[in-house]
Amino acid sequence: MSHICLVTDIQDGQAKAYPYKDRDLIVVRRGLNVYGYVNRCPHAGTDLNWQDDQFMTDDEQYLMCFTHGALFEPETGKCVAGPCAGAHLSEVSLEVENGKVYLAG
Ligand code: FES
Repeated sequence: MSHICLVTDIQDGQAKAYPYKDRDLIVVRRGLNVYGYVNRCPHAGTDLNWQDDQFMTDDEQYLMCFTHGALFEPETGKCVAGPCAGAHLSEVSLEVENGKVYLAG
């Protein structure tokens, strides 16, 4: 398993990017749970963020694509508003063991 980070490296409710293949991996933290997605918007294929690690809406309820404003559920990657509503971010399975985040498999 490939080690990514510690759960506590990410502020609760926030997300961070880590190198992953040819795109970044977004790791979102919700309490002790983490969710991983490829940093590629299903609408036009851009990165979601426009500044380092700026992925969340101000209320921390959604990941947001800053290109055209699509909103994504942190727990599922589903787009719930914006030009690609109903589409999904590409999920990357993660595992947590002793507070450390790994790529699954
Ligand atoms: S590229 Fe993300 S909403 Fe258009």
